[in-house]
Amino acid sequence: MKMKNRTIIFEKRPVGKPTAECFRFTENPVPEPGEGEVLLKSLFVSVDPYLRGRMNVGKSYTAGFNLGDPMKSGVVAEVIKSKNPAFKSGEFVAGLLNWSEYQTSNGAGLSKVDAEAAPLSAYQGILGMPGLTAYLGLMEIGRPKPGETIVVSGAAGAVGNIVGQIGKILGCRVVGIAGGDEKTEMLKTEFGFDDAVNYKTTPNIRKAISDACPNGVNIYFDNVGGEISDGVIMNINKFARVIICGVISQYNEIRIPTGPRLQGILLVNSALMKGFIVNDFAEKFPEAIQQLKKWYKEGKLINKETIVEGFENIPEAFFGLFEGTNTGKMMVKI
Ligand SMILES: NC(=O)c1ccc[n+]([C@@H]2O[C@H](COP(=O)([O-])OP(=O)(O)OC[C@H]3O[C@@H](n4cnc5c(N)ncnc54)[C@H](OP(=O)(O)O)[C@@H]3O)[C@@H](O)[C@H]2O)c1
Repeated sequence: MKMKNRTIIFEKRPVGKPTAECFRFTENPVPEPGEGEVLLKSLFVSVDPYLRGRMNVGKSYTAGFNLGDPMKSGVVAEVIKSKNPAFKSGEFVAGLLNWSEYQTSNGAGLSKVDAEAAPLSAYQGILGMPGLTAYLGLMEIGRPKPGETIVVSGAAGAVGNIVGQIGKILGCRVVGIAGGDEKTEMLKTEFGFDDAVNYKTTPNIRKAISDACPNGVNIYFDNVGGEISDGVIMNINKFARVIICGVISQYNEIRIPTGPRLQGILLVNSALMKGFIVNDFAEKFPEAIQQLKKWYKEGKLINKETIVEGFENIPEAFFGLFEGTNTGKMMVKI
């Protein structure tokens, strides 16, 4: 009997928060690789906030998903069969792949990953896209100097915790913002943040950041946007750099809420506010990965992850990003 292969199809565009109806599970036989192809078995599937943007009509970070197509994200997979001379069975690869248990690929866009150098899951986290985003956003736009104060929102998440850890390696004061006392405690005890603010219980973010940053804010690495960011930006110093990495607080909004006008604060502080997409820095990926690997090997960077078990739980894991059920990189082990 042929082995079954489950795939998750993008079925319905969400209005507001994504729900189970947005996805449909299909079952088909495991495909046979053609000439020049490999058969891949998915091991770790990444779920990411940016996928929410791809579920809307039109372009977000990148082209939107088409209804009826398989969902796609970063996947670490094992080569099970190979008819492509560049890959051997038993090798591990990472790439942008379908939410399928098994799939074929012609090898384009796949990169081999070394299971000896780090756990395979780390290639979705500290040695993958979140690590690159944290490192390159901070270094290329933030340009931190020792002694400066960095505030990072979404600090207990995949990108945020790495930003804070790098900030500490570089000799900065680091203050994180996250949702929950357990998370803020973890930032201080596990990752060495100097201070942390629980945005869910803090009545006044502006004051909390002012208290946590006695010398003001030189760099704000923003993963969430909205009122949290308004409160931080009120505390920026002259020549501050505000790095817009993500605005997860708005991804499920049907109408984007308006907030205070911040241009005046940027103006009087001669501050820079800049958005970026990690691929903007694609030519720097090799050097960034080399540095991240070095710090990881030296034990200076911790790889934090939340691993949900089971292919059928990919949608739940994705929804969890908007509820903060993860610390570090959220992914699903197949
Ligand atoms: N520019 C780029 O190239 C790039 C690349 C990767 C990621 N990103 C962006 O970076 C951000 C973080 O991504 P990630 O992969 O590291 O995800 P993540 O931080 O691991 O997960 C999302 C976190 O966002 C927080 N959150 C959810 N809803 C929120 C809300 N309404 N207000 C405040 N916080 C909320 C939750 O933590 P709490 O418990 O603290 O609420 C949750 O754990 C996202 O905005 C993402 O789109 C951008």
